Amino acid sequence: MQIQITKTTSPKQKPDQKALGFGKYLTDHMFLMDYDAEQGWHDFRIVPYGPIPMEPDAVALHYAQETFEGLKAYRTPDGGIQLFRPDMNAKRMIQSNHRLCMPEVPVEMFVEATKKLVEVDQDWVPSEPGTSLYIRPFMFTSEGQLSLHSCTKFVFCIICSPVGAYFAEGINPVKILVEDEYVRAVQGGTGFAKCGGNYAAAMAGQEKAEAMGYSQVLWLDGNERKYVEEAGGMNFMYRINDEIWTAPLVGTVLPGVTRDSLIHILKDWGYTVREERMTIADLMQAGHDGSLKEAYACGTAAVISPVGELNYKGDIVTINDFKIGELTQKLYDTLTAIQWGKAEDTYGWTVKVC
Ligand code: COI
Repeated sequence: MQIQITKTTSPKQKPDQKALGFGKYLTDHMFLMDYDAEQGWHDFRIVPYGPIPMEPDAVALHYAQETFEGLKAYRTPDGGIQLFRPDMNAKRMIQSNHRLCMPEVPVEMFVEATKKLVEVDQDWVPSEPGTSLYIRPFMFTSEGQLSLHSCTKFVFCIICSPVGAYFAEGINPVKILVEDEYVRAVQGGTGFAKCGGNYAAAMAGQEKAEAMGYSQVLWLDGNERKYVEEAGGMNFMYRINDEIWTAPLVGTVLPGVTRDSLIHILKDWGYTVREERMTIADLMQAGHDGSLKEAYACGTAAVISPVGELNYKGDIVTINDFKIGELTQKLYDTLTAIQWGKAEDTYGWTVKVC
């Protein structure tokens, strides 16, 4: 893949690394490539960050034929830069694209484009503790048509943002509202795909939770509104006595890279991980009888976010006295040490950029 690089002539001022927040700043460059039925992927380029021209009848704008990914680049103690499991993101995007009738971006192409863009924008990878460069690959159909048919023209783009903690609470516990009105996914739908439409449909629940003073929602299954599925925009895991539970990947839950990594680590530590359904009634009961020891949301953006409170229809459970759990802290420390290159990566998960 020959990537043509056009560097910006007016680099932006870098933000204060101690006040990055999440997704507020974009780097100087972006990666773009185009797809059409005749040429496949072509015109690989890194150009200054800027607007992408769109026809007003572009199908992505009307029928949400769009998918995206989220991964991070980390500044290692020797000043180098590494990615965390970029192949997993590439493979997941292929699954998402199949569901949305969009062409595949081959894994090697995805990883090479990501590495090259991070290399070009390497000065944007922050080094303050807890910071990283969030990488957002996304793809959409640029084709214009108002009738509903699958398209043949697509754009794949990668943008990057230096970030700190996703939640204002950082690694402190957050409060979660269990959503009992709206649903996020149903079997046969797009719940497993990372597509914008899922997140748009989740916004009403998120807005409601925020208005009630909660950081995010916990989604229940879409058929019976009975089983615990995932947190808003990330997976949900919890410890019942000494077993770790998380919803199974049966089509309604995002197959999270952080989720998968934590399951590997937990199993290596000898924990039983139950990828099984649990009813919200049983989870609340476990909260009341004390067997729910810890809970956390996990995803690339937030890494691990301890959950200190669950509110289901006004029934409130406080988890671990609203303190981060011992196992949650150990998982966070272990995973982030690998990601930031502070501990040996015995799993072979990290990929050096430069
Ligand atoms: C991620 O964790 O990478 C996501 O895409 C979640 C999003 C809500 C920021």
